Amino acid sequence: MEYRNKLVLAPMVRVGTLPLRLLAADYGADITYGEEIIDHKMLKCERQVNDFLGTIDLVEKGTGSVVFRTCAEERSRVVFQMGTSDAVRALSAAQMVCKDVAAVDINMGCPKSFSISGGMGAALLSKPELIHDILTTLRRNLDTPVTCKIRLLKCPQDTVELARRIEKTGISALAVHGRKVPDRPRDPAKWNEIADVVAALSIPVIANGDVFEYDDFQRIKDATGASSVMVARGALWNVSMFSPKGKIPWENVKREYVRKSILWDNDLKSTKHTLKEMIMHHSCLELPEGKAVIRSENLEHLAQLYGEENYFQQVTKNRGVFGGG
Ligand SMILES: Cc1cc2nc3c(=O)[nH]c(=O)nc-3n(C[C@H](O)[C@H](O)[C@H](O)COP(=O)(O)O)c2cc1C
Repeated sequence: MEYRNKLVLAPMVRVGTLPLRLLAADYGADITYGEEIIDHKMLKCERQVNDFLGTIDLVEKGTGSVVFRTCAEERSRVVFQMGTSDAVRALSAAQMVCKDVAAVDINMGCPKSFSISGGMGAALLSKPELIHDILTTLRRNLDTPVTCKIRLLKCPQDTVELARRIEKTGISALAVHGRKVPDRPRDPAKWNEIADVVAALSIPVIANGDVFEYDDFQRIKDATGASSVMVARGALWNVSMFSPKGKIPWENVKREYVRKSILWDNDLKSTKHTLKEMIMHHSCLELPEGKAVIRSENLEHLAQLYGEENYFQQVTKNRGVFGGG
């Protein structure tokens, strides 16, 4: 996969499932990351071809819950992001999906205690040997491109030194979130420190942090020298921000999102969580819409809430005919 001059949907837990990824691509995203999935969880799954929906699913054995769902349409641009603290486990997990995705990415930036206590996410940033072990193991054993996503270290020289070591593992690109581990989302992203990494590496660097409008793509490229840009919150709040034609009203985006969730039979928890995040940003969960989303027990309820009952009936009826179910 080519990583230069790309607009990228960032990995987002519970949010970056198939409907949002496809919608982001419809509006103009070139590369779309899935939510982080922990290697332990993947190893409890099996890969299933879902002829009914036309998808490939990683399904948890025993519970039947879909941990990752993808389809042919996004095969050339979807990045599978994994949380890991062990090279052998990471490889076994990556081998389950590598044929179905465009690249495998390792999360080295998550500051949440769940990740850190498991030695994953940002915990890796202080273990360069382990980073090397994980990335070289994946690189040597997979035909699929391997990348990783880091945060900034305490001082810019340390970030650059780590980035150089990472580059030597032969990965295809490095995403840099311009915040340090203790920084909160409201703290401004340090584009100048991303620029230091871009200047020091030859592989593509994907700049990430505080991009909310289409014009910000050019601003962060100019400020960092990176040719590719990754967006999380800006896309969550209105995924049409990827469009060069300008954003469309978020009410319309929300309905498109519900339709895609219906079409791909998305996990209800993921759809509800994503809608709640959108509503919280633009309005308030205490209002009737927010309460109705929280109460909804299935995708049909959400279809009714957003005036998409006909679409729901049509999609499920066709599945009945073509899927035999
Ligand atoms: C809801 C949400 C979920 C996230 N989940 C992940 C994740 O699974 N993996 C990851 O590497 N980063 C995750 N992040 C961090 C983003 O990918 C990104 O690095 C960060 O939000 C900064 O980008 P932004 O300023 O465009 O929001 C998440 C962020 C948000 C808002």
